[in-house]
Amino acid sequence: LTPDAWLAGQDRTGTFGRDRARHLSHKGTFGDVAIVGGASAGTSHMAGAALLAGRAALHAGAGRVFVALLGSPSLTVDPQQPELMFRSLDALDLAEQVVVCGCGGGDAVATVLPKILSRAKALVLDADGLNAVASDTSLRALLRTRAARGWHTILSPHPLEAARLLGSTTAAVQADRLDAANRVAAQFQCVVLLKGSGTVITAPGEIPVINPTGNARLATAGTGDVLAGMLGAALAAGLPAFEAACRTVFRHGQLADDWTTSHPGQVLTACLLAQDHQPDLQQQQ
Ligand code: APR
Ligand code: MG
Repeated sequence: LTPDAWLAGQDRTGTFGRDRARHLSHKGTFGDVAIVGGASAGTSHMAGAALLAGRAALHAGAGRVFVALLGSPSLTVDPQQPELMFRSLDALDLAEQVVVCGCGGGDAVATVLPKILSRAKALVLDADGLNAVASDTSLRALLRTRAARGWHTILSPHPLEAARLLGSTTAAVQADRLDAANRVAAQFQCVVLLKGSGTVITAPGEIPVINPTGNARLATAGTGDVLAGMLGAALAAGLPAFEAACRTVFRHGQLADDWTTSHPGQVLTACLLAQDHQPDLQQQQ
C-alpha cells in the first residue's frame, strides 16, 4: 500500500477490512498487572525477582505493568524494560489490577498481605507471599475468605512452599504431588499449581492436570518469577483462573522446550525466558 493508493481508496477510516476490534483496542483493553515484591532489607536486595515478573507480564501481553518494590527501594526504572512503571503500594489500584505478590518479597510481604488479600480481586500469590501465609493464621483465614467473595486466586508453590502451607515436608509432598496440590487447593479454595517437573494444576471442582511441557533448563533461579508474571498477564487478559493457570504453565514449559531445540547446549536464563516471544493471549480466546 502506498499513501496515494490509500488516499484514493474507498476506505479512509483505516480499517482496511481488518478486524475492527483490533483498531479499537488500547492499552487498557489488555489489562493492568501490578507486581508486589522485590524487597530490599539490610544487605539483601531482591528487586530482580520483581523485575523478572514484570518483564514477563509485559511480554505475555499485559497492557500496563506496575512494579511496587517493598522495603526501601532505590530503583525507579528498569533500564532494560522502561515500559515498567514503578509505584508505591499505596499508589496502586489493587481492586482494578491483577496483583502478582511475593516474588523476592522477603519478610516485608507479611505486612502488606492483609491489604492485598482483602482488596485484590485477582491475585497470583507466589514465593514469599506463600511463605507469609504459611506462618500466619490470620493471613490463612483471610486467604480462605476470598473464594466466597467470588475473587480469583492462583497459588504457585514449589514443593518446599507447598510443604510449608501443609505443615508437611518436601519429601512427603513429592511422594504424592497430586494429593498435596489437591489438599492446598481444598484448604484455601484456590487454583493451585504445584511446580516442578510435571507441574500439577488443580482447583476445587476441576479435574487436575499434569503439565507435559518444560525441562531441566528451567531449574535456574528466577524462572518461577517469570511464570508468576505470565500468570498475571493471563488473568489480566480475562481468562478464568484455572484455564489461565493451565495455559500459562504449558506455555512457560514450551518456551524452555523450544529454547532447548533452537539453542542446543546453551544455558537458558530467567531473563531470556521473560523476554522470549509469547503469543497474543487475546488471539487465543
Ligand atoms: N523440569 C521441568 N520444570 C522445571 C524443572 C525441571 N527439572 N525444574 C524447575 N522447573 C520449573 C518449575 O516447574 C517452575 O515453573 O521452573 C520453575 C521454577 O520455579 P521456582 O521453584 O519458583 O524457582 P525460582 O523462584 O525461580 O528460583 C528458585 O526459589 O526457593 C527459592 O530461594 C530459592 O533461589 C531459589 C528460588
Ligand atoms: Mg519461586
